[in-house]
Amino acid sequence: MEYVIGVDLGTSGTKTVLFSTDGQPIASKTIEYPLYQPQNGWAEQAPEDWWHAACGSMKEVISKSGINPKDIKGIGISGQMHGLVMLDKAGNVLRRSIIWCDQRTAAECDEITSKVGASRLIELTANPALTGFTASKILWVRNNEPEVYEKCAHILLPKDYVRYMLTGEFATEVSDASGMQLLDVPNRCWSDEVLSKLGIDKSLLAKVYESPEVTGKVSAQAAELCGVPAGTPVVGGAGDNAAAAVGTGTVQDGIAFTTLGTSGVVFAHTDKLSIDPKGRVHTFCCAVPGAWHVMGVTQAAGLSLKWFRDNFCSDEIIVAKGLDKDPYYIMDKQAERIPIGADRLLYLPYLMGERTPHLDPNCRGAFIGLSAMHTRQHMLRAVMEGVVYSQRDSVEVLRGMGVKINDMLACGGGGTSPLWRQMLADVYGCPVKTVVSKEGPALGVAILASVGTGVYSSVQEACKQVIKTNPAQNPIAANSAEYEKFYKMYTELYPALKESYAKLAKI
Ligand code: XUL
Repeated sequence: MEYVIGVDLGTSGTKTVLFSTDGQPIASKTIEYPLYQPQNGWAEQAPEDWWHAACGSMKEVISKSGINPKDIKGIGISGQMHGLVMLDKAGNVLRRSIIWCDQRTAAECDEITSKVGASRLIELTANPALTGFTASKILWVRNNEPEVYEKCAHILLPKDYVRYMLTGEFATEVSDASGMQLLDVPNRCWSDEVLSKLGIDKSLLAKVYESPEVTGKVSAQAAELCGVPAGTPVVGGAGDNAAAAVGTGTVQDGIAFTTLGTSGVVFAHTDKLSIDPKGRVHTFCCAVPGAWHVMGVTQAAGLSLKWFRDNFCSDEIIVAKGLDKDPYYIMDKQAERIPIGADRLLYLPYLMGERTPHLDPNCRGAFIGLSAMHTRQHMLRAVMEGVVYSQRDSVEVLRGMGVKINDMLACGGGGTSPLWRQMLADVYGCPVKTVVSKEGPALGVAILASVGTGVYSSVQEACKQVIKTNPAQNPIAANSAEYEKFYKMYTELYPALKESYAKLAKI
């Protein structure tokens, strides 16, 4: 039998899965690492942590599975998008990575918009200047840490740093590169115009590949550390969402998925380039060569629930330990007992600012309607509902752009909660399915590795063979009608608070 490895470099940890080439998971290992938040709205991680986690988890899946490492055909890497990794001439990390959810770069976004022009920027990069994206992070380092910028010889994305450590190659691929705001997204290559207007030297950037292409081979030095034989091909892989698309079979028009991970995403495949002129959703190249996707992002989806768990659910954590269950399972059961609308309590999930549809780094979370009758369980239910309302905002923008959504899949950690999935079905008003494999992005990049090494003829062909779906959860009309009243209120809250958020950010 032959195997492929999918490495998924997430925000809370790196999950590596060894699959047979027909997509069956053989062994899996996750290694966690810290997120540093030195100031309100800042978020950083150490690239060395990512490499150690990738290496350690690869070694572990190989030893756990007992396979002959020579039977590994290839490796695909998926990862959190947008993070800025800066290396010096010798390939050493120059500073901690400023990652996707960091919001410090509002001034640099203004700088980008004024240098490139708002509409030209959307024409070229398919997106407005965003604090989450890499370009503004590069300018922030140049403006605030010139001594670091001066030493910088290579700029990489998180997963591409792991690729560099594995193969010695400075390479990226179109799906992740789309989130740097330096790629000409319609033409799938670096934009000379954006680079020259921003004064960023192209030689700092990696070579761009399509996602299934082979970008290099495991070096002898890396082989020693991670247990994969030297010479094993490493394909381009994909940003986490484009990888999840492959791992759920979202590779043709009409199919969409919702991720409830740290961030929340509503993602739809599109064979034809489609750009929101208001920039409320992102258009990126997808992992299917020659195609794109549009996606809306909730900055703090699973992060909202994790924040709630870590700060308010110590009892549930203890109970879960006693029952040998996940705390989220216990929390789900508690939220289930609270009625729709949490007895008139609403939650805005803007803990890390918000992208879709507000594009506002200054907004923050809020509970609206708190009463003395509310309990922690009401707040928990409100958090889950608020995240779903935020994702409905993305669905509304996509529907308004004419993007077809016939099939909606749910994935990410939160997608395993039947309660959260039912909320999605009820609030979107459409059936929501899951795929049989729970491995999402790791499976997606393992499939890309299979395609790149010739096991399958195309990404679509591979998905047809490998991806199977479960029966759908249908919307319940009475629930939808009830949620609709609260969703309408939800959409009125951000405009009412916008000015206060801006003032609060200046204090
Ligand atoms: C996408 C985005 C997140 C990160 C982290 O634009 O910022 O989905 O990739 O998961």
